This record gives sequence, C-alpha cells and structure tokens, in this order.
Amino acid sequence: MLFATAKDALNWYQSEDRVINKSFLDSVPWKDVTLHEIDKKFLPVLLYMRDIETMTEVYFEELMKSPTGKDPVIREFMERWVTEEPVHGELLNRFMEEAGFNPDADWKAKGFALIPVSYTKRSKLNQLIAMPFGKRFAAVHMTWGAINEYSTLTGYRRLWELADHPVLTYLLKAIAREEARHSLFYWSVARIHLAESRFSQVLSRNIIDRFWTPVGQGIKTEADSNLVIRTLFAGEGGVDTMKKFVNDRVAQLPGFENLTRVTDRITQASMTV
Ligand SMILES: [Fe+2]
Ligand SMILES: [Fe+2]
Repeated sequence: MLFATAKDALNWYQSEDRVINKSFLDSVPWKDVTLHEIDKKFLPVLLYMRDIETMTEVYFEELMKSPTGKDPVIREFMERWVTEEPVHGELLNRFMEEAGFNPDADWKAKGFALIPVSYTKRSKLNQLIAMPFGKRFAAVHMTWGAINEYSTLTGYRRLWELADHPVLTYLLKAIAREEARHSLFYWSVARIHLAESRFSQVLSRNIIDRFWTPVGQGIKTEADSNLVIRTLFAGEGGVDTMKKFVNDRVAQLPGFENLTRVTDRITQASMTV
C-alpha cells in the first residue's frame, strides 16, 4: 500500500480500532498457559521485549521535544502509538507470570530506574544534533522508527515460530497485527519525507549507516541485544528473515538502495558467544 501523503497514512491508521481491545483481552486463554511447555531460553527475550515495549514513552518524550514532534500528523500518530506499545509489555509480563517465571513485581519502576545515564546523555546530544536540521530530521526519525517496528514485528513472528506455545502464539499474533500497522505508518511517512528532498535522503542514510543499533540497545546493553538476536535469529534462515522483512523493506525507501546495515548487525550479533 502506497500513500500519497502522510495524512492519508494517518487516516488509514485511525480508520481501525486497535486489535488488542476488550474482547481480545477477554478471549485470552490464560488458564491454558501451564498446559504447554516453554523453553527457558526464551525468558531473556520476553523480558527484553516487555521492557522495551514499556519504555516506549521514553522515546516518545524525546521525539516530542524535537522538531519532528511539531509535525501535526506525526504527533497525532504517536499519541495513539504510545498508548498501544505498553499494553504489549503488560501482556508479555502476564504471560511470564502465568508461566511461572515470576517476574519482579516492581519491574516497571526498576526498568525506568535502570536506564543508563549514558542513554539520557546521548538522547540530549541527539536532540542538539537534530535541531539545526529542523523538520528535515523527521525523515531520520521515521526511517529509524520503521526499522524498529519491522524488527519488532519480525522478532515476534520468529519467537512464536520457535517457542511454539499456543497461548504465546495467540498473544503475539495479535500484537504483531498492531506492529504491522505501526511499521507501515513509519515506513510510509519516511518514504514521503525522503522523497521530498535529496538532502533528507543523504542525511538519513548517513545516520542509519553509521549509528543505527537494534531496537532497545542503549536502554539495554549491547550484550542484552546480542543475546536476544542470537536466540531468535542465529538458527537456520534467521539472518535471511531479517534481511527480507526488515533490511530489504527499508532498502526500498528513497536513498536507501543497497542498505546492509541491518543485516550486517544481525549477522554480527548472531555470531557472538
Ligand atoms: Fe509493541
Ligand atoms: Fe510497534
């Protein structure tokens, strides 16, 4: 689907209510969680995803302070988006509770408290770097967001295939439908902003090629990110999946021909021990 304007993408996003509504929540067969085994190796993946989903508001606050946050279409999208992501975190946490993994009761407060000072400092620096580019920087934010959303979507798909737990699959398929909508919005708005200016293309491509890191890295450590990537993508077809659904999708954007940054990083992480 190709939208002519960012407003068209927003109208499409708003034309449907969220997938995870009350009737979905009432339909989750929580009592069946313990009827099926889940390999403990997926616990760090679930914890990582839960925390990143929950901390979406940190990224939202950053973006709202930047010139991108002044864009009325992006702002309207993000105001709904920031309410959807933490519910994904809550569902993953409930799944872990039901599965007997006993996640920490204080997990949210602890998670926010553990955000490293280096992340906060870098985020302030990023704002200073973005300022002189004004609204041109929206192309960077939207491209970065598209990579993160497609990565998350692909990560969830891979998790349900590997973990093969019916209740987790049921949850992740619903979450993935929302991630797919987020992905298409970010990708579409990135495409429109990039197509407007060669300068935006060069700026965005440079920043992604030099600085892009997997979703969550920065709030979490590089070792945490590597462990998640390795668990999900080290097996047969893992890197190819990320290449097809993330890297090559972003490579369709204006100025992103022959992108390899995502595939390179996933390959590197899958080989770390
Ligand atoms: Fe999410
Ligand atoms: Fe998302």
